[in-house]
Amino acid sequence: MSIENRFNKYDRSDMLENVLALPDQMREVWNSSSDFILSRPSAGSTLVICGMGGSAIGAVLIRDLVNKNSDFSVHIERGYLLPAYASANSTVICVSYSGNTEEVLTLFDEAVQRGCEIGVITSGGELGRRAAEANASVMNIRGGLPPRAAIGLLFTSLLRLVVNWGIYRITDEEFTELLKKARFIIKEITPGYNSKDNLAFQLSKKLYKKIPLIYAGDGLLKGVSYRWKCQFNENGKIMAYSNIFPELGHNEIMGWECPDNIKKNLFLIFLIDRDDHPKVQKRMQVTYSMLEKLAGDSVVIDSSWYGNNSGGRLERLLSMLILGDMMSVYLAVGRGVDPTPIEKIETIKKLLKMGES
Ligand code: F6R
Repeated sequence: MSIENRFNKYDRSDMLENVLALPDQMREVWNSSSDFILSRPSAGSTLVICGMGGSAIGAVLIRDLVNKNSDFSVHIERGYLLPAYASANSTVICVSYSGNTEEVLTLFDEAVQRGCEIGVITSGGELGRRAAEANASVMNIRGGLPPRAAIGLLFTSLLRLVVNWGIYRITDEEFTELLKKARFIIKEITPGYNSKDNLAFQLSKKLYKKIPLIYAGDGLLKGVSYRWKCQFNENGKIMAYSNIFPELGHNEIMGWECPDNIKKNLFLIFLIDRDDHPKVQKRMQVTYSMLEKLAGDSVVIDSSWYGNNSGGRLERLLSMLILGDMMSVYLAVGRGVDPTPIEKIETIKKLLKMGES
């Protein structure tokens, strides 16, 4: 069956359309977010961003984008406890696409109690209601998408903030150029386009019967490697894991002494970026030469894979986001599964709700 027919048959809720719509989502929020105003965290402080799953990913990507230039640090809270240091002087942003995620609602209430300055990014739900009641600054985004497919809306809400705060610089003209570039990148890996050289399609074919281990440096691509893992899990419905250099060279590397029949099922994916610390680059090279012989399959992907070696950090970040997202939908339809339903995630939420009543 052709890949186009596979999408018609298995992608029943149009996850592909959502992936292709990334630049449109970004444009939509860029145009509508200028009123989303929040105090800039002071130098030396920590900005806390609360969110789970697909709603946390935008924050993770922003953290990696600004890490180099920011005079405050970014902590992403994915649990039920606000860090002890979050106080009346702290800025806390609560992100939940549905607005109904238990952990984020708990963190929001705690932030209100502690008198933190609060920003909320949501399409509504209970978080939207509580935010209005607490007079928090709210960025309302369009609802109706699976949260992980709203990445363009979620990411750009935060991008707007860091641009307003002067932590990341991009003009309106540069933003327009960036979206043009994103459309070009998407076209390169769209189904039916140039399928022999279509990197996302070709790589996804290698994933069907493997467990991807996605390794990146502790820099621009740290969060991207996690996004790939999550998209392979949620869209592709396969096991996938990610880890980061240099830390993995001090522990996980020993796991490669596991039985050969397990190793042959592992697909080793190295994500590299030219801004990775030189010592991390060296470590990654040395480690790859050790591991490529052991893994069932392996590949190194440079964040300039689409052929622009002078692309900026945000462009490279987006190129890797797009590539992973596209691979995950090819993977799903290639396996004959619908990328959109996430039954087990919903079952957990339902079981917890039943336990409450
Ligand atoms: C679903 C997805 C999940 C959700 C998570 C939290 O597409 O990616 O990881 O993002 O269960 O729900 P929200 O985003 O509504 O707060």
